[in-house]
Amino acid sequence: MFKSKYSITSLRGTKQSHILLYISFVISLAFMFVSCQNSSNDNSQTTLKTNPTFEDIAPIIYKNCTPCHRAGESGPFELMTYTDAKKNANKIKFVTQVRYMPPWPADPNYTHFIGERTLTSNEIELIKRWVDSGAPQGDEAKTPKAPSLYYGSSLGKPDTVIWFNRAIPIEGNGDDHFFIVKIPMKLAKDTFVRYFEFVPDQRKLAHHINGHLINYEAGNKKEVQSGLSYALDEYKDYKNVYAQLNILNDDGTFPTLTPNTVYYLPGFTPPAYPKEIGGYQVNKTSAIFLKSIHYGPSNADVLDSSHINVFYGSKPKRPIRETQLGTFGVSKIEPEFILQANQVQTFHTQATLDADISLLSVNPHMHLLGKTFWAFAIKQNGDTIPLIKINKWDFRWQYYYTYQHPIKISAGTTIHVYGTFDNTANNPFNPNRPPKQVVQGESVKSMRTTQEMFQFIFSYLPYQNGDEQMDLSKHN
Ligand code: HEC
Repeated sequence: MFKSKYSITSLRGTKQSHILLYISFVISLAFMFVSCQNSSNDNSQTTLKTNPTFEDIAPIIYKNCTPCHRAGESGPFELMTYTDAKKNANKIKFVTQVRYMPPWPADPNYTHFIGERTLTSNEIELIKRWVDSGAPQGDEAKTPKAPSLYYGSSLGKPDTVIWFNRAIPIEGNGDDHFFIVKIPMKLAKDTFVRYFEFVPDQRKLAHHINGHLINYEAGNKKEVQSGLSYALDEYKDYKNVYAQLNILNDDGTFPTLTPNTVYYLPGFTPPAYPKEIGGYQVNKTSAIFLKSIHYGPSNADVLDSSHINVFYGSKPKRPIRETQLGTFGVSKIEPEFILQANQVQTFHTQATLDADISLLSVNPHMHLLGKTFWAFAIKQNGDTIPLIKINKWDFRWQYYYTYQHPIKISAGTTIHVYGTFDNTANNPFNPNRPPKQVVQGESVKSMRTTQEMFQFIFSYLPYQNGDEQMDLSKHN
């Protein structure tokens, strides 16, 4: 889909525009700093209740906090009832005052996404007043009830659940761990799946999961159950590892892969799309093949028994495609991706489209040294399409951000991505004390938490007339 920036066709004028862009980047950074002070995201004119009760607070909490702060999800305590909120009132006041919760790294003044979770200044002030006046309950009968969300899923009740064949042992030696996992599936007949939702068991350690779907053609595979269910990913002799996992066809050839069907990053929930978009055909004999599952360092030996929620659907009409810029992607990072010790550096990557697309979702990815992330597109006529801006990168919250309506990006438009990395001691997440030079590495090994990545992943459809009107929040 992309012309590489270095292909003959797209070499025109890149140097100059690059410099201009950099200047505008610096200017808008300065502007951003000013405009952060009075976030335009709220309506500060309206008068706020002086003595709010839980009647006023419950809707804010149930919408913005409960999806994670409930049993089976990542939040460390539940926020389902008045009692839960009252018990944690001071903490709630604190984390909302400093805008630590709800976690939503994307700047809502730049672009909006489905499921956006941000509080207005008014809501934050209302919470403060409520807590300061002793967190009163108010009229219980008038207080809305917590939403009934399905246990163990952000998408609702799955049609079926598939588990790791065997729990994966993670050694408590303070190292990163990489595995390859096979999860065989034996279905009554060929079917279609809308989503695979990976549910990590060791939420604090699960760093990154990238899985493919293997469909065995009829007659190519007698049985998929035998063989190892996981193997250490040691970056060598893959053919032998695949044989041990028994994922090859019976004649030793590679089966058909549908890439990136199962995905997970901290904070990630699979983007849900309207019925006619996305989905996978799954053959009777098939398997989920987690090409890489990466656990961050642990101090204790633990077992991970993660599972995958499966949601059936109808035959996919418009398959989703995915591309990435930057690390392992279609475009080169400039300057060379070397993060010098004690420096804050900005890197850039760009690619020009050679076909019209409808952009659905974007996923910025960096590790612990990430500081800010900014992606936008520049049309051939010079107009800018804002895509996403993250003013304060947080490694723990890496969402797939889905636009309300697909964004049409025409052929000839260039996508630009800027990432700033803070490799100084001021960065509280810097894993090296004192800071030391960090690079990307040459293989999947660079996915180690302590190495860096600079990636802009996005999902799209080939453009069709009227895509801009499609409402991506309508799932049925
Ligand atoms: C996307 C999921 C998510 C949402 C939404 C969310 N939280 Fe959290 N929250 C977490 C996770 C995970 C942690 C623990 C990790 C951390 O502290 O970063 C946490 C930590 C906290 C803590 C700190 C707990 C402690 O003792 O250190 C508080 C307080 C809190 N959340 C309150 C809230 C409130 C209030 C909201 C809504 C305004 C909210 N959270 C929304 C996931 C979420």
